[in-house]
Amino acid sequence: MTETLTHKLRTGTNHEHRKIEQTPFMRALASGTLPVAAYVAQLRGYILLHAALDGRAARATDPAIRAVWRDDLVKAPLLEADLAHFGRARPASLAELDATARAIDELDEASALPPRLLGWLYVTEGSTLGGAFLRPIVARAYGLEGDHGTRYYAPYGTAAAQHWAGVKQRLDAAVQPADHDAVVAEACRAFRAISSVCSAIAIHEEFHQQYALAAE
Ligand code: HEM
Repeated sequence: MTETLTHKLRTGTNHEHRKIEQTPFMRALASGTLPVAAYVAQLRGYILLHAALDGRAARATDPAIRAVWRDDLVKAPLLEADLAHFGRARPASLAELDATARAIDELDEASALPPRLLGWLYVTEGSTLGGAFLRPIVARAYGLEGDHGTRYYAPYGTAAAQHWAGVKQRLDAAVQPADHDAVVAEACRAFRAISSVCSAIAIHEEFHQQYALAAE
């Protein structure tokens, strides 16, 4: 039997997933010790990234992207609601903006070479699985009630598994075997780009905290 695209994606990006999970940012997020300013900065970076990804995917004319994308995958409005919950946050740092702009450049390059963009969709949709696990930790860490401030982390509520199964089915049906390697390579690139955004936030936050302590 020929290997499916989603099986190749899972095995081909496994090392990137392990790497991102082990970053100081994700370790702090998963242990409920990430400062709230860094959490909000992540939402701020992600909303720019998702405004680009949602828009490129929704407007795509490539048949494979059209077959996978559905309007209920849109994430920017969830991030907007989460950001609104936190009100006015500290302005973005230059490093954070720079890393996000570079990630969007890479996403743009991918969207110019469809169906590579599906590598990004795989990564962001797959991340909702970890999000379901992280959401209660985040809510406890920042004293958030209901889904206030955590809508992005639980976009599908209790239907996360069904959503993921649907995305995988559509990915497997839509992408030609000749394009599989390019989509897997793009997914690895997306993991690294997202990791760079979070690292830029973590480094800025660490500096900010040390500076604040030194100034006391
Ligand atoms: C502390 C952070 C994270 C934790 C604890 C975590 C946890 C998980 C878990 C439990 C799964 C389900 C695994 C399975 O069904 O076998 C998963 C899947 C996945 N996660 Fe994460 N995750 C984290 C961060 C991320 C991030 C930041 C991204 C992307 C930027 C990401 C992308 C994915 C993808 C694409 C999958 C699907 C893998 C597949 O093909 O089955 N994860 N994650």
